[in-house]
Amino acid sequence: MARINLDHIRHAYGPNPKKPSDYSLKEVHHEWNDGGAYALLGPSGCGKTTLLNIISGLLQPSEGKILFDGKDVTNLSTQERNIAQVFQFPVIYDTMTVYDNLAFPLRNRHVPETEVDRRVTEILEMIGLSDRAKKKRKG
Ligand SMILES: Nc1ncnc2c1ncn2[C@@H]1O[C@H](COP(=O)(O)OP(=O)(O)OP(=O)(O)O)[C@@H](O)[C@H]1O
Ligand SMILES: [Mg+2]
Repeated sequence: MARINLDHIRHAYGPNPKKPSDYSLKEVHHEWNDGGAYALLGPSGCGKTTLLNIISGLLQPSEGKILFDGKDVTNLSTQERNIAQVFQFPVIYDTMTVYDNLAFPLRNRHVPETEVDRRVTEILEMIGLSDRAKKKRKG
């Protein structure tokens, strides 16, 4: 966890934004404290996903900076920021088994396979899917 500072963030998807209506995300300047729980509320299209993508590093803001614990991460990749994002719609890989879907993010981080197995097995039991571990989504 970290303190997150959004320093005068604005975003336009098109090039050369000039007028306020060119910006899909209007200016946000805010501090979120380490350990806090925050909710972003607003009508469809107001820029919630755009802002989350900017925080996680999937999108570079047109203007402003993002700081984690005071460190400027604006130009760092998602991996370098060490941040996770849960998407609005589920992302499940149809070609992988339930087990491999759960193992995927751990394997990407080069977690040792014995530890992957321990954690995936624990989660499968927790969510009651142990008997489907080796099945694919449509299997
Ligand atoms: N890749 C893109 N290219 C161009 N415009 C985009 C793109 N993604 C989003 N937009 C526009 O940016 C604005 C903000 O979209 P965004 O998806 O961030 O809204 P949202 O608050 O997450 O909406 P919802 O509640 O429907 O999820 C919208 O006008 C949308 O059409
Ligand atoms: Mg959204």
